[in-house]
Parts: sequence; structure tokens; C-alpha cells
Amino acid sequence: MQDKTHLVDEITGHRRMRRNRKADWTRRMVQENRLTVDDLIWPIFLIPGTGIVDPITAMPGVNRMTVDKAVEAAKMAADLGIPALATFPDIEIELRDQTGSQALVANNLLNQATRAIKQAVPNIGVITDVALDPFTSHGHDGILRDGEIVNDETVEQIVKAAILQADAGADMIAPSDMMDGRIGAIRRGLDAHGHQMVGIMSYATKFSSAFYGPYREAINTGGLLKGDKKSYYIDPANGTEAVRDAALDVEEGADMLMVKPGLPYLDICWRLKEAFGLPTFAYQVSGEYTQIKAAAMNGWIDGERAMLETLLSFKRAGCDGVLTYFAPEVARLLAKRD
Ligand code: PBG
Repeated sequence: MQDKTHLVDEITGHRRMRRNRKADWTRRMVQENRLTVDDLIWPIFLIPGTGIVDPITAMPGVNRMTVDKAVEAAKMAADLGIPALATFPDIEIELRDQTGSQALVANNLLNQATRAIKQAVPNIGVITDVALDPFTSHGHDGILRDGEIVNDETVEQIVKAAILQADAGADMIAPSDMMDGRIGAIRRGLDAHGHQMVGIMSYATKFSSAFYGPYREAINTGGLLKGDKKSYYIDPANGTEAVRDAALDVEEGADMLMVKPGLPYLDICWRLKEAFGLPTFAYQVSGEYTQIKAAAMNGWIDGERAMLETLLSFKRAGCDGVLTYFAPEVARLLAKRD
């Protein structure tokens, strides 16, 4: 008589991985990574005016908000326990120019929002991106001269913009432009202006990616962008180059590192965490968000489970947290489960 159990035992010996998976209680006991509200940074979009909440077509469930509405959103986020916001302005097209001069206006939309949020909700962290793309008429992150994004002149401008952002109350500056030498220059600039305690979260490894599409609709740079960003963002084919780039940012004084986009670059998250041990964050970018939302809206995947699974994958890959448009939704869900 053939005993099937013995057949399997001959192969597995005493080892059966499924013992630990057999019940909810064992699964909870052996779970290695957990997602909590403390892992979330919420990126929000700002528009001029008052009282407006304007849906972004390519990002279902995400809105552009005037400063007063952003303050309400910040209160809600703080109540949910979300530690920090990342702010992105969608300014008037007439105010955008070749060099992104609005970045140097002390009370520009971005800085107005920081002031208002920090005054109303002092306990939520405000992280400001210091790239020039929301302010340039060509949609590039730097100053465009004779068809080239000029590095050092851009860095000079970014340092000035970062100081103004810190003056407005930004807790952390996040440069996403990928210019060489910007981290060290921003650090020196901040320190020289009494902002020693303002941190730098470097978009250390920012890849030239197709997944930024919906963001460019959100801040209206998509139609403006001439050419591509391949001369400053990293080639998606390159992992070792990304680690070298991050090493420079660490040397120059970055407090935290970011990998962007997230899901296609989990290997980079792992490599940076292993190499430097700095607090490391993934940016689950607009296209990643939209993929999940669009498929869920069509009934093709379970959106809630896909959201949680992707966020958890960042933790497994060594990240300390995630910038995600899902932040309020997932915070609410986690609160319900506790
Ligand atoms: C550019 C910038 C980008 C994003 C934030 N700042 C990329 C780009 O437009 O090239 C993308 C964010 C997202 O897709 O969610 N400095």
C-alpha cells in the first residue's frame, strides 16, 4: 500500500514550511515586516487661490489643493498619525520662466503653504522638494542654456531656494534635481543661514522613468517638457552607478536617502540600506499609484490588497518608510485594524 505522506516526507525530512503558515495566529507570529502609519510620508499638490480642491484626472483620488485646503489636509494627516508631508506646487504658467526664478521668491506658493501648515499643525513634518521643474517654462529640473541643463548655476539657485524654504519653516529639504554637488552645497548654505537643524533627504537615486507621467499632469509640466531628463537622471539599467551616486550624497552630508521610483527599484533600496545604513525611503511615484488605482477601478485587481502588498515590499527591501499618495487611505485602514 502506497502511503502518500511518506512519499513527501522522504523529500522534506522533518521540514515542512507550511507548519508556520497553517493558521492566522502562526502567520501573525512569524510575520517579519509590518507596515505602520509611522512609515508614511504623504506627497500633496498645491495650487494658488482659496477654497479649491481640484481632482487630478491621471491620479484618481488625488487632488490639487489651495493653501487653506492643504492646511485642512495637514490637520487630517496629523490626526491620522502620518509623520510628514512632501509638498509640490502647481504654479501659474505665466510665472514660469527659463531659469525658474519663482523658486527665489520668498513667499511663493510652496513657501506660503509651508508657513501656513507649520503654523496650524506644528507637529507634522514638512519636506520640500527644491528642484526647479515646477518653476521653469521648459519643465526641466535645472536651468536650460543652449539646450543644456547647466549644473553649477542650477546648484547655486537651488541653494538659495533651499534657504528660502527653510526660512519658511521647512523641516527637511529634498533635492530631486540630480545635479552634481547639490547636497554639499545645500548643507553649507543651510548652515551658513542658521538652519543647522534642517535636514536633507536626498533623492539620491532618481531614475529616468516612465512612471512620472501622472505627476507631470498634476503640476502641469508634461506639456512643457522639451526632450527628456536623461542627462541628469540615472539610466534604469544601472545599479552600481546608483550606489556610487548615493555614496557622494552621503559624503556630502545627506541625512536620509530616497530611491525613486519605488517598486521597479527594490534592489536599489536594498543595496543602499546595506551600503550606508542611512534612513532610506522609497518614493512610490504617481505612475505606480495610478497603475494600482486604474486596475482596481476596472475590477481587475483588489486595489486595497495591492496597495498594502506594494507598501510592505518596501519594508522587506530595507526601507524605513515610503512616500506614497496612498498615505491617508492606508493610515485609515491601519487604524481600523488596530
Ligand atoms: C521632478 C520631480 C518628479 C517627481 C517629483 N519631482 C519627476 C519628474 O517630473 O521628472 C515625480 C513624482 C511622481 O511621479 O509621483 N523634480
